[in-house]
Amino acid sequence: MNVHSEKAPVVTMRWVGEVDGYLELIDQTKLPSELVQMPCHDVETVWEAIRALRVRGAPAIGIAAAYGVCLGLQTFTGSSHADFLHRLEEVSSYLESSRPTAVNLFWAMNRLRTRARQEDQRESSEELLACLLEEARRIEAEDLEACQRIGAHGAELIEPETGVLTHCNAGGLATAGYGTALAVIYAAHEQGKAIHVYADETRPLLQGARLTAWELHQHGVPVTLICDSMAAQVMREGRVRCVVTGADRIAANGDTANKIGTYSLALLAEAHGIPFYVAAPTSTFDLSLSSGEQIPIEQRANEEVTHMQLFPTAPEGIGVYNPAFDVTPARLIRGIVCEHGVISPVNTDQIAKFVSR
Ligand code: MRU
Repeated sequence: MNVHSEKAPVVTMRWVGEVDGYLELIDQTKLPSELVQMPCHDVETVWEAIRALRVRGAPAIGIAAAYGVCLGLQTFTGSSHADFLHRLEEVSSYLESSRPTAVNLFWAMNRLRTRARQEDQRESSEELLACLLEEARRIEAEDLEACQRIGAHGAELIEPETGVLTHCNAGGLATAGYGTALAVIYAAHEQGKAIHVYADETRPLLQGARLTAWELHQHGVPVTLICDSMAAQVMREGRVRCVVTGADRIAANGDTANKIGTYSLALLAEAHGIPFYVAAPTSTFDLSLSSGEQIPIEQRANEEVTHMQLFPTAPEGIGVYNPAFDVTPARLIRGIVCEHGVISPVNTDQIAKFVSR
């Protein structure tokens, strides 16, 4: 998380060494109590880290999976390009089975597949692996740059003295660094705008309380934590003048999947006449889906709702519904901030124009 700050940057993840190296990432399930680096020496550890939300947030999942592919191919012993592609397919499909909603995961796997196919003149598996590692590093570097651009474009939308509401964590921890929704906030703050952030705690896994509040606090951005159910009251009291969230997958028409609770916020923002913005790199757009109805929504374990850590908060055996994401219709989104600028109005034509740049 190489956020622009006077304080020492916290690194969300990094590849240590060369082709025989390993991935090290912050175990985000331990935050905010402990800042623990977790080494990943094999692809199974990366799969588990994604599944268990040790590394989470759409762009960060894609980057971790790209490095996970490199780990999965370190043990490849075959000699032909075709065998290498076959093993790559096994490893990338396995990583794709970790979580279904964030399209950045599938986008990153396709980048590696394409790169490996292009390298058909390479003789050795070491050379092919070096190409994949280079591609994974490129994905990470491009994401950092996209986040910085998102911050610069998005800061223009933020008034000089204002309250901003955000949901879940779309910060440095969710990306290569700097974040998407939080990039907008960091950039506005760096420009000297007196902004105050209201962070939704984000039930059931509390990414807002554990991660966003921690990140903003670390970087000296004024932040107040609220329960998700307080958002309407905070808006009615005039404490926030806009909402900015991240995204996990944006369909061709602008319908946007993001952490469960985002759709309610967009409806509340509309009811209070407050603009609702989404911030996401173009790697989060899925133009193969015409609308949000086709976005796969991850269903997670009942225990995430019935327990706080290991402590039960509901009767044993109670029925639970736990979709991890919801879809906000494009009509409720005032603008989508991507690395190429602000897409507004949000519709199929505008999105096609921006994403093809
Ligand atoms: O389940 P999570 O924590 O991976 O969900 C993350 C979100 O919903 C983020 O808002 C989204 O991935 C954008 S991250 C820049």
